[in-house]
Amino acid sequence: MNHLFLPKEITNVGVPPVKCQGIKTKLIKFISQSISWNGKGKWIEPFLGSGVVLFNICPERALVSDTNKHIIQIYLDIQSNKITPSIVRDFLEENSNKLLKDGQEYYNFIRSRFNETGSALDLIFLNRSCFNGIMRFNSKGKYNVPFGHKPERFRKAYITKIVNQIKWVSDIIRSRDWQFKAVDWRETFSLAEENDFVYLDPPYIGRHTDYFNNWTERDAVDLSEYSRKLKCGYALSMWLENKYRKNDHIENHWNNLEIKSFAHFYHVGSKESLRNEMQEALAIKPSFTSNEFEIEQLRKKEIKKTENLFEFV
Ligand SMILES: C[S@@+](CC[C@H](N)C(=O)[O-])C[C@H]1O[C@@H](n2cnc3c(N)ncnc32)[C@H](O)[C@@H]1O
Repeated sequence: MNHLFLPKEITNVGVPPVKCQGIKTKLIKFISQSISWNGKGKWIEPFLGSGVVLFNICPERALVSDTNKHIIQIYLDIQSNKITPSIVRDFLEENSNKLLKDGQEYYNFIRSRFNETGSALDLIFLNRSCFNGIMRFNSKGKYNVPFGHKPERFRKAYITKIVNQIKWVSDIIRSRDWQFKAVDWRETFSLAEENDFVYLDPPYIGRHTDYFNNWTERDAVDLSEYSRKLKCGYALSMWLENKYRKNDHIENHWNNLEIKSFAHFYHVGSKESLRNEMQEALAIKPSFTSNEFEIEQLRKKEIKKTENLFEFV
């Protein structure tokens, strides 16, 4: 039998230490069960973001990149052992006391220091204590997210959680042949070979705009044109439709691909009643699709139906 690397079932989705907008944690199972790939080449991710897809797919060989050099630096420092779980624990423990004492003033001090030195440890601190755990840089490339207003943020349990996330990614990175690069997607595309698989998760057109996420209609069209020329398999993640609108870009520019969709819910504000549905799409090169995800969903529905029947007996 021809063994495939993907689709694969991921029972426990792991969470990496970096948070960013558009993080695909909720879509891991959908992605890992909708793609079919033999895993003979390398997994290529030109828009790495937090790395949640990479770490959960966990290929033997990978080439991953992002123009956000600060995220890439965190992973390069982990790869070279400059950042280890114990270094992160010591750093957060020391700085948690100072944050507790001086709150916002201390957060702003670390933010200014990071904007001067680009220290990966400072970014981990900021990313985990800022407002809403986001990653945003102003037009000059300076991190500008305000404080999350929780001086007690780095409690013991929270530090342990972050340290465990660092340990999880360090163990994986050190046992794999992975290359991290801070480059534009075009450079990464030029290194794609026949047996590779390219997973694309570009920024939303005209949304979340900041120094590293300046993504225009022109960029999006270029990406679809370059992708058509790839000799290997590839897939694109993108929103498909919500209550208000359908994403015409997929129909107009990715119509050579097979579209799979998955609905998930997000909350608008704090009330449970304000729940909106979003359809996410995975547009996949036709010979690289798998139906495992749909089959799994049907199986789960059947099990639920049977359980409901038993409740009436
Ligand atoms: C939607 S996010 C990726 C999210 C990621 N899949 C995750 O789950 O965390 C898009 C990423 O593309 C990066 N990016 C924006 N423009 C880029 C470009 N021209 N080349 C490479 N990466 C770019 C951004 O820095 C951002 O990290």
